[in-house]
Amino acid sequence: MKLLISALPGNEALAEGLARHLDAGIALLETRSFPDGELYIRHLREIDGQELAIVCTLDRPNEKLIGAYLAAASARELGARRIGLIAPYLSYMRQDKRFNPGEAISSRHVASLLSSAFDWLVTVDPHLHRYKDLQEIYTMPTQAAHAASLLSKWIKENVSQPVIIGPDSESQQWVSAVAAACGAPYTVMEKTRRGDRDVEVIFRDLNSIAGRTPVLVDDIISTGRTMAQAARALKRHGLPATICLAIHGVFAGDAYELLAAEGATVVTCNTVQHPSNRIDLTDRIAQAVIAARAEAESAAR
Ligand code: R5P
Repeated sequence: MKLLISALPGNEALAEGLARHLDAGIALLETRSFPDGELYIRHLREIDGQELAIVCTLDRPNEKLIGAYLAAASARELGARRIGLIAPYLSYMRQDKRFNPGEAISSRHVASLLSSAFDWLVTVDPHLHRYKDLQEIYTMPTQAAHAASLLSKWIKENVSQPVIIGPDSESQQWVSAVAAACGAPYTVMEKTRRGDRDVEVIFRDLNSIAGRTPVLVDDIISTGRTMAQAARALKRHGLPATICLAIHGVFAGDAYELLAAEGATVVTCNTVQHPSNRIDLTDRIAQAVIAARAEAESAAR
């Protein structure tokens, strides 16, 4: 059956790219906000009996989660046979533990909300820290596309003599894979986070990077504090201007300006639309969609 793809606002370019890669049709959605901020959603194409994929990246997620939920729930009511969510950036994954008594482990609750509305999920490099796998919290088939080899390709084509640097121990998983694929050395800094915007990053391993171009690699740039502090520390050690390479450029508040003020070149993937997008993951996401649909099909048998 031919797949139909719908885009929530801001996801149209990716939806069209995916439709080309997957030979899928586009099912237009009409969306608007009522004066009081409530969302209006209308499927403009007949979707009864069809398989639908809804593209909605989940940066600035609260309104988008409701939009994705309403689009899926109404598609189900209108007879869609199977409904997938393509969320290249999957938010709420960092709240994976009750750090203080009474806190919500939001990653679990968002996972159960989305699993109740969709039949499969495709994302890109989800932030897996305390969870080994998305299946620990999602009850529908999930597929994660990986950006590491394309980050490496970009580095190989654009940076001479790179050293790949992770700003914290969590980044080691991406940094080691990216470094291996581009044949560059890597090292990891030490990060202490005291608050949302209060981060300290220390560097102890200067010998490994002498004479090389520093490329900081992380999964997410949110407030930009991690990357900015890391770039500042490298500058203090006399290194040339840093390249900040991230999979998901969320850029909360003044994050982008902060990095520019450190003289950093910022490069991101197109999981969240931003002028720093240089690495196109459409093909990777399309491959993950094929795998997720197949998994959902066999689970339904
Ligand atoms: C850490 O958990 C992540 O891998 C990133 O390092 C973090 O999300 C970056 O956050 P910010 O840009 O707010 O420092």
